[in-house]
Order: sequence, then C-alpha cells, then structure tokens
Amino acid sequence: MGSLAPLLFPVSDLPADSRRGRSREHHAPHGEVPSLLKWTGSKRSQAERIASIAPEHDRYFEPFLGGGALLFCLARPGAQGSDIYAPLVAFWKLVRDEPEHLIQDYTTQWKALQDDLPGYFYVVRERFNNTQKPEDLNFLMRTCVNGIVRFSKSGQFNNSFHLSRRGMIPKRFRQVVMEWTARLRGVDFRACDYAEAIAHARQGDFVYLDPPYSGNRQRYIGDLNVERLYEHLENLNRRRVKWALSFDGNRGDRDYKADVPIAVYKRVISLDSGYSAVAKVLNGPIEQVTESLYLNY
Ligand SMILES: C[S@@+](CC[C@H](N)C(=O)[O-])C[C@H]1O[C@@H](n2cnc3c(N)ncnc32)[C@H](O)[C@@H]1O
Repeated sequence: MGSLAPLLFPVSDLPADSRRGRSREHHAPHGEVPSLLKWTGSKRSQAERIASIAPEHDRYFEPFLGGGALLFCLARPGAQGSDIYAPLVAFWKLVRDEPEHLIQDYTTQWKALQDDLPGYFYVVRERFNNTQKPEDLNFLMRTCVNGIVRFSKSGQFNNSFHLSRRGMIPKRFRQVVMEWTARLRGVDFRACDYAEAIAHARQGDFVYLDPPYSGNRQRYIGDLNVERLYEHLENLNRRRVKWALSFDGNRGDRDYKADVPIAVYKRVISLDSGYSAVAKVLNGPIEQVTESLYLNY
C-alpha cells in the first residue's frame, strides 16, 4: 500500500462525489437507519456518511456485523454479513427469511411482559442463557437497560430490565422489521470469524470492518488480536480489495487512538458520532464522541 502519510480531515471536507455505477447508490437518507437491534458500538449515527464515501463495488462484506447499521445502507443481493456471535446471526436470518414469525413472537412476548413486569423479562433472560434462541435475544435487546448488550465473564446475558420503558410497541416493531426485511433480500449471513468471512473477498469488493474497540492501546480487545487484524488488512491490500475500518477516536478531551500502521491505510477521516451513550447510562458527563474511519483507497 506504500507509505502515504495519512490525511486527517472531517468527512464534510471531502470533495462532492459524482461517481456513478455498480454499487454507488445507497438507500438510507441521513439518520434514518431504523433501530432494529441496538448493539454496542452501533454505527447508526454515522452509517449514511460512511456509505456516501464507499467506493464503487461488486459485493459488500460486513464481517463485524453487530446491529448492521451500514448493511442497511449498502445491502443488495450478494452482500455478506457475518459475526462471530451465532445468536445474532440467527436473528438476522429471521429478519430476512421469517419476518412474520419474528413479529408474532415479539408481539406475544411484549404482551406477556405487560402482564408481568418486570418478572417476564427475567424469565426470558434465563431461557435465553440456556437456549440462545434469537427470538429471545431480540426481546431482551428491545427491553433491557438502554438496549445495551452485556455479558458476564462466563458469557451469560446479564443486563437488566429497563424499568421506565415497556418495549417498542408491536405495531412500530412490525414497521421496523419490514423495512429491514426489504433491504436484506439476497444478503448472505454467516456466523464465523472475520478472517474466514473476508477470505473470499476479491478485487472489486468492498469490506467495512467495525471490530470491538476498547480505547486502550492493547494487543487484545476481548478475543480480538489487533496485530492479526492488521495482517488481514495488509492481505486485503495485496489482493486489491478496498476496505474501510472504524477503529478508534476521541471522547470528550480524551484520545483513544490505536496504533494502526501507517503503511496499511491511505487516509483517516474523523466522524462525529454524537454523544456517549455510556456516559448517559452511568450518569457521567455527556461527552462528544468522534471516531476514526481508516480507508485504503
Ligand atoms: C462494534 S460491533 C459492530 C457494530 C455494528 N457496526 C453496528 O452498527 O451495530 C463489533 C461486532 O464484532 C463482533 N466480533 C467480535 N470479534 C469478532 C471476530 N473475531 N470475528 C467476527 N466478529 C467479531 C461482535 O460480536 C460485535 O457484534
């Protein structure tokens, strides 16, 4: 990829993009990715801006799928969404293939919750921790505190019920699911490690990577080996696959920069992602958050 010095500029300073063609068009107007599955590190607030600078591409790959905010903008038949967390991938398959079943299940569970609040939430939480059913993951995510997915060290979902909320009303849930289902036609979903998912990407494809990032300069983030990630980025460069990586940023006046090797990317863009949800949850000061987007094109 050469040793181009990275550029740092806000995305609004990018030249207006007049490219047309293969998959330049994207669907969602700014801020309109409907909130189906809130997920830690969601890129809902940035998705439209990231989509607007995606290069022309044949197939789209999103190997750290989570709540899939960018997938909503770039999905088209042949796109591939994957994540290491199998219940999450099973959930996305339900949205694509069985929306009526998912809506019916949520409606039934929502009604049970109104009759037994918050007891029913904890019944479902225990069941999910035993069975990993994607319908239950959906219900928990819609009704837990601030919709934040949280696990214990042993992998048990352990967030609590959001006492002041009763879950999205089923009518609205139906609308949101149907919007997503319409987008996901022909999208392939896989439960696998990101390396396996991107092994099939070739020149002409576009990969968006949004791995978990803890804000520390450490070798491992959860189970993610940072150096291994950089090696895979180099590998994509060698195969001339275009990619974008969301990885670090600033919160308030603190800097959470990673040491992404300069030789791996061509430029880095600073994206404003709004205010820290974590600060809100912990009743800390509300802080402005910006995140970096590294590009190899
Ligand atoms: C920051 S979240 C992605 C958020 C997503 N962009 C959104 O808008 O909601 C990171 C995701 O990476 C997944 N993940 C962590 N390690 C992984 C790995 N080795 N391979 C694939 N996915 C992984 C996590 O399960 C999580 O869903």
